Amino acid sequence: MKPDEACRRKIIDGKAIARALTESIKDKVEHFRVETGKIPGLAVVLVGNDPASEVYVKNKAIQTHRAGMRSFMHMLPETTAQDELLELIARLNADAAIHGILVQLPLPKHLDRNIVINAIAPHKDVDGLGEANAGRLSLGMDGHVPCTPLGCLKLLQETLGTLRGLHAVIIGASNLVGKPMAQLLLRQGCTVSIAHIDTKDPGSLARQGDILIVAVGKAELVPGDWVKPGATVIDVGITRMDLPDGKTRLVGDVAFDDALEKAAFITPVPGGVGPMTIACLLSNTFDAACEADKGV
Ligand code: GUN
Repeated sequence: MKPDEACRRKIIDGKAIARALTESIKDKVEHFRVETGKIPGLAVVLVGNDPASEVYVKNKAIQTHRAGMRSFMHMLPETTAQDELLELIARLNADAAIHGILVQLPLPKHLDRNIVINAIAPHKDVDGLGEANAGRLSLGMDGHVPCTPLGCLKLLQETLGTLRGLHAVIIGASNLVGKPMAQLLLRQGCTVSIAHIDTKDPGSLARQGDILIVAVGKAELVPGDWVKPGATVIDVGITRMDLPDGKTRLVGDVAFDDALEKAAFITPVPGGVGPMTIACLLSNTFDAACEADKGV
């Protein structure tokens, strides 16, 4: 179904908001280069050949160049041993041309995600997933904030202004999105509920949310009647769905057409949260370069 004009106005244009953020970072990178002679550098490490991850990391490299930064790609075979990966991370930690390091997830099963992520020096952990940055976020201290929840927060603030006093319901309690999202929204003065796999009646909880954020990774898990009328819906999921005619389509975790009827605002998939994740990665990398320059 093609949304009419009234519905179109409800759709949050993540692409446009991300483009504006990337443009402002590009300007700041250029000033930084002129003032310091330095160029922010981002290293992205991919282990294995998960097709979705390959697309994500290539997009990250393209956007990094677009913002005037240096991109260092490390594409490692599926069979890479943990010690080899840790050696690479140690080299990247010691390289002054690299200000940010991201190891794309998921990792192949034989690699320990926690050990790998925590091997990244906290000041270069622009993904904010290591224990130092995650701990700082939960204590309300400055640090690198995970890019997807940071992008969701920026979309919410751009759309609603202040979030103080709103009830935010998050579906999905992952370390990547749900948990840091809750911390960020608490900081903004929201009342926060998290639904997860063991939550008894997630629909009735979801229907209480002025803000509904869904980050589960299950195509169209959330039906329209889980959305409180007038809520703002942020759909983090992205799944390629097979259609009966043999074609495929990207869909989110929310049944978009039905939710659009209920919501005041909603992010599309694609073109909602995805572009913001990359823009926030660039923003974190720029911040890391500034801190390195100041000797922080
Ligand atoms: N895989 C999917 N999203 C992300 C992300 O934000 N960071 C990393 N490192 N891997 C991901």
